[in-house]
Amino acid sequence: MGNTCSSIDKIICPGSSASVPSSRTKASSSLNTTGNLSAFSSTTFEQSTGSPVSSDEAFIDGKILEVPNLRVFTFAELKSATKNFKPDTVLGEGGFGKVFKGWVDEKTLNPVKSGFGMVVAVKKLDPESMQGLEEWQSEVNFLGRLSHPNLVKLLGYCWEEKDLLLVYEFMTKGSLENHLFRRAGAFDPLSWILRLKIAIGAARGLAFLHSSEKRVIYRDFKASNILLDSNYNAKISDFGLAKNGPVGSDSHVTTRVMGTNGYAAPEYVATGHLYVKSDVYGFGVVLLEMLSGQRALDISRPIGQHSLVDWAKPYLADRKKLARMMDPRLEGQYPLKGALQAAALTLRCIAGEPKNRPSMKEVLETLEEIWALKVRPTESKNASSQHKPRRHGQAPVHPRSPLGARQGGGVGSRVVDHSLKAR
Ligand SMILES: Nc1ncnc2c1ncn2[C@@H]1O[C@H](COP(=O)(O)OP(=O)(O)OP(=O)(O)O)[C@@H](O)[C@H]1O
Ligand SMILES: [Mg+2]
Repeated sequence: MGNTCSSIDKIICPGSSASVPSSRTKASSSLNTTGNLSAFSSTTFEQSTGSPVSSDEAFIDGKILEVPNLRVFTFAELKSATKNFKPDTVLGEGGFGKVFKGWVDEKTLNPVKSGFGMVVAVKKLDPESMQGLEEWQSEVNFLGRLSHPNLVKLLGYCWEEKDLLLVYEFMTKGSLENHLFRRAGAFDPLSWILRLKIAIGAARGLAFLHSSEKRVIYRDFKASNILLDSNYNAKISDFGLAKNGPVGSDSHVTTRVMGTNGYAAPEYVATGHLYVKSDVYGFGVVLLEMLSGQRALDISRPIGQHSLVDWAKPYLADRKKLARMMDPRLEGQYPLKGALQAAALTLRCIAGEPKNRPSMKEVLETLEEIWALKVRPTESKNASSQHKPRRHGQAPVHPRSPLGARQGGGVGSRVVDHSLKAR
């Protein structure tokens, strides 16, 4: 989880069988310099015949391009666009590597001097990374062809020898994770309305993926992969772990269980069975982070409280207790009815059984109903006294909450191989 994460660890679930992600070899692709990745892309959406739910409204704004329309950059061009990958252009860092700010001409996408043209985000593979060609290919295959207002736009890529880079539209306000959890003064607290707006945007993106004719399971839904533009429109990024939906059955069995600790659905972690509803679980965890202001996983919290889901379930289920779980940075400024509905929705999303979770279409509809309530003056009289604003990085004060411990460290760790791995 980018710049704030001290460790990224993925799960590999031994013993699971079946499909292997697309080829890792360079020879399998037909990369050329015109920007077409024909072999990559033509196979990406042909593996699944999962039943389409194409009438979904979320699909209307999006489309699957026949051929990705991507610019092929040379390494020299991206070096120039990012001032030689100068440290002061670093926007963040994730499991793949660092993300740099770069400048390109709006029309030609040729590099220009910093401060001119259009800003882009350039993600550069770190040779030490646990990720590599496979994730890079997946990103190009999926994001290169999926087009939707709530998916981040991939503009192009570079592949020269061992240098793998991806070029995206620049998302001015960075990640949701930064807004919810970064320290002092860096970001203003997100209001209830903004949280809802972000949740609705992200739900639209996920609903589009699930409803599109080649059902896509995103597999890595988390706060750091939700990026925000200048108006807090949310866009989902990072398709390195995305998969086509199951063919002829409900679940897809993966050889390697990958995702992020704290967000990955229990059935997936335990068995490698991946469902569209596994994404809904991840969405529920993010909703819970937005309601509570707490990270999905935080090993600096007292024993028994590391997992937000485990801790929060009783609070979500009890309307009298809910206010104690809400993020103090909201300062009680939310409609109680909306919060109760959001809590009930969250609880359904994080249900243990995939079949008991709602579809993303239903999630979206419910969020829109909550949105319609908008913000009314605090309905919970006690809310503001219970929600004293805290400084960033300071202990969230929940008077009677078991999560009143210091926050920070050991956060949102990505899972690989059942072991925590430092990046
Ligand atoms: N298109 C973008 N525009 C602006 N900032 C970006 C963009 N893409 C990434 N970032 C910044 O870079 C950070 C790292 O992103 P990245 O996707 O590499 O890692 P991550 O999501 O934090 O972790 P993971 O590797 O597990 O996905 C993000 O948190 C965000 O702050
Ligand atoms: Mg990411």
